[in-house]
Amino acid sequence: MSRLIVISNRVSVPDKKKKDGAQGGLAVALGAALKEHRGIWFGWSGKETEVFTGDLNMQRTDGITTATIDLEPQDIDEYYNGYANRTLWPLFHFRIDLAEYERQFGSGYERVNERFATSVAPLIEPDDLVWVHDYHLLPLGKMLRDRGIKNRIGFFLHIPWPPTRLLVSLPFHERLVLTMLEYDIIGFQTREWLESFCHYVEKELGGTVDADGVIRFEDRVVKAQAFPIGIDYEEFSRAAVGDTARSAYERLVQSAEGKKVLIGVDRLDYSKGLPDRFEAYDRFLTQNAESAKDVVLLQIAPPSREAVVTYQEIRETLEGLTGSINGAHADIDWVPIRYVNRGYPRAELAGFYRASRIALVTPLRDGMNLVAKEYVAAQDPEDPGVLILSRFAGAALQLTDALMVNPHSGDEVSEAIRTALAMPKEERIRRWQGMIETVKNEDVKKWQKDFVAALKGS
Ligand code: ADP
Ligand code: G6P
Repeated sequence: MSRLIVISNRVSVPDKKKKDGAQGGLAVALGAALKEHRGIWFGWSGKETEVFTGDLNMQRTDGITTATIDLEPQDIDEYYNGYANRTLWPLFHFRIDLAEYERQFGSGYERVNERFATSVAPLIEPDDLVWVHDYHLLPLGKMLRDRGIKNRIGFFLHIPWPPTRLLVSLPFHERLVLTMLEYDIIGFQTREWLESFCHYVEKELGGTVDADGVIRFEDRVVKAQAFPIGIDYEEFSRAAVGDTARSAYERLVQSAEGKKVLIGVDRLDYSKGLPDRFEAYDRFLTQNAESAKDVVLLQIAPPSREAVVTYQEIRETLEGLTGSINGAHADIDWVPIRYVNRGYPRAELAGFYRASRIALVTPLRDGMNLVAKEYVAAQDPEDPGVLILSRFAGAALQLTDALMVNPHSGDEVSEAIRTALAMPKEERIRRWQGMIETVKNEDVKKWQKDFVAALKGS
């Protein structure tokens, strides 16, 4: 079996016991996938160094070999906080109003990608398969080719690919997308993002795309395909009935004192639609005053990318909304929103999901959304809860039995909460059975197996 060299900005082997919530879906999925494969996971350590040396820190944690480098403060500023999270992240999540186009962000992004390429290239042996991840590293394949790497190199994008009409607002967009054509295979979460990419290649670059997603451009042939990411179903559903989950479950049920819990679990990110969600919940409380005190919303939201102003602003907005909604509706023995800014061990999270009658997964735009799948996997088959899911999450294309909402519409979300609370058990079971099949069959192992098979060209 070939070795797999996985390259991503963030390298962190998820620790079941650690409060590792701020890592997001990529780290969770890659940690699970790498356990299946021999190889190395390369990326940024998350640490700063005064002068970049490219020295590798190799470690073996939980069966996974990691190799990391430290970056200079200027790199972190321009590449990670800058181009990745102030330019590409908002643009790729359809928020051109938040996207910033600073020339030094672009040069920092290229410099760090070059640094990644220089540091990782010596680790790559001739039979290795190379798998690059996410928007931080779009041009890395080309930079590896420039260093003589002839291996099969694949790329997977964990976030949406924006419509061409939006992408063209990015200065030098052609140059960026052209570098991606050096990969052998490019993977997306859903057909929608795949189609947007192919549309761009045809309309802006003048390439051709055949019915199998094979792109031809000058002398390049690249395969583009959708590979919907999943969760580690086996591990997560087992965790949901383990001791840690059980005590987390009991802790939440007891503290809810008979009220039905609505849960939200999201990094504190504007793409997750948290203010809209809180406002919709507020609307529900106002429109359903008689049943308002029978529910409580638990929103778990670990801070993310705190150096970026838009993330500081979303945090302030939510603190303000939580205060005003609680102020308007609370009573001496009831507070409508429990807003918690911290991570929890995954097994505890599983217990919280299981104790919640409703999950509110209402991003304004999301590549996939693993929380939706985790919620489904953690449910009691005899008495499952209801998933309220944004139609703009990639997961909506798979979890079609969820209660689907437009997250921008407070009325629709408020209505869905009412419907979910009143939903008969038979309907909850029927919907859950539809979803669990997908969560189980299209899990993270299948995702990794399918991508690696495509990368091998088999
Ligand atoms: P994103 O990758 O944008 O953060 P996803 O929903 O795809 O969104 O993945 C988020 C992952 O991070 C999930 O696996 C979720 O369980 C985990 N997570 C989010 N918040 C927390 C938290 N507070 N504690 C523990 N894990 C968390
Ligand atoms: C999303 C991105 C990942 C990223 C994660 C957490 O899942 O697709 O690439 O790692 O968010 O964000 P952070 O900036 O903390 O790595």
